[in-house]
Amino acid sequence: MRLGWSSWFRSASGGGHAAGDPVSVAGDRRAVVHPVILKGINKHYRLDDVDVPALQDIDLVILPNRFTVISGQSGSGKTTLLNLIGCIDRADSGTLMVAGRSVYTMSDDELSDFRAQRLGFVFQNFNLLPVLTAYENVEYPLVMAHMAPALRRERVTRLLDAVGLGAHAGKRPGQMSGGQRQRVAIARALARQPAVILADEPTANLDSKTGTEIIELMRQVQKEGQVSFIFSSHDAKVLEAADDIVRIQDGRILSVVRGGERG
Ligand SMILES: Nc1ncnc2c1ncn2[C@@H]1O[C@H](COP(=O)(O)OP(=O)(O)OP(=O)(O)O)[C@@H](O)[C@H]1O
Ligand SMILES: [Mg+2]
Repeated sequence: MRLGWSSWFRSASGGGHAAGDPVSVAGDRRAVVHPVILKGINKHYRLDDVDVPALQDIDLVILPNRFTVISGQSGSGKTTLLNLIGCIDRADSGTLMVAGRSVYTMSDDELSDFRAQRLGFVFQNFNLLPVLTAYENVEYPLVMAHMAPALRRERVTRLLDAVGLGAHAGKRPGQMSGGQRQRVAIARALARQPAVILADEPTANLDSKTGTEIIELMRQVQKEGQVSFIFSSHDAKVLEAADDIVRIQDGRILSVVRGGERG
């Protein structure tokens, strides 16, 4: 296997981290896996004094270490749901468990640390820092985490190799194709070895062939590493690759189909 993800996860989560390195991942932390659990979640937006219900009475369990796709029409609430799970936004009511933590019991500071340590994000428009190279974009979350330079170098190099960008490390986003940018974004999302990676329509800005490659890459990472992938998409290729499909309509769960239940 060209990517060798299992060895990446093994070696990256193994020993060799400096004492006090906040990025180091103890074996026991990775060994424990948790579902994402939403209970009685409601979210409204207020727009010109009008209440827009975006999510209503959401009860949902997203199983760990799987590739879950949230699917639904435009305006159905996919982005809102991902933003809640990603702790980018808070629900108006209900409880949310992510990576074993009840997130609404945390202070804003705790929540932002939790988000940085345990969650990874891949966006439709890549959201890379344009002035930084591919290498620096992947390195950035590790710098923020005060990881020792030697460990950082090793990890960034390995990640860029794993996503097939070893030869492009010095390029800035403006000098890369869409698919290459999304690979950088995936490497960056993986840098701190999150429990959950969230992606809002990650293939929407890619051509069909590149989109397929990116899905393959994410699928490979998901299968070999202990990480839950949660995507929103109406891309048939993404749905096909999913283990589980959550369909939403008008802010409500329509169905949850788990892999194995599908014909
Ligand atoms: N910031 C906001 N202010 C007001 N209403 C909003 C806001 N963001 C989303 N909404 C509304 O909430 C509902 C859900 O929006 P959301 O963006 O979650 O849908 P979506 O399924 O991601 O759609 P798309 O496929 O077009 O991305 C929609 O009715 C939308 O108009
Ligand atoms: Mg959306």
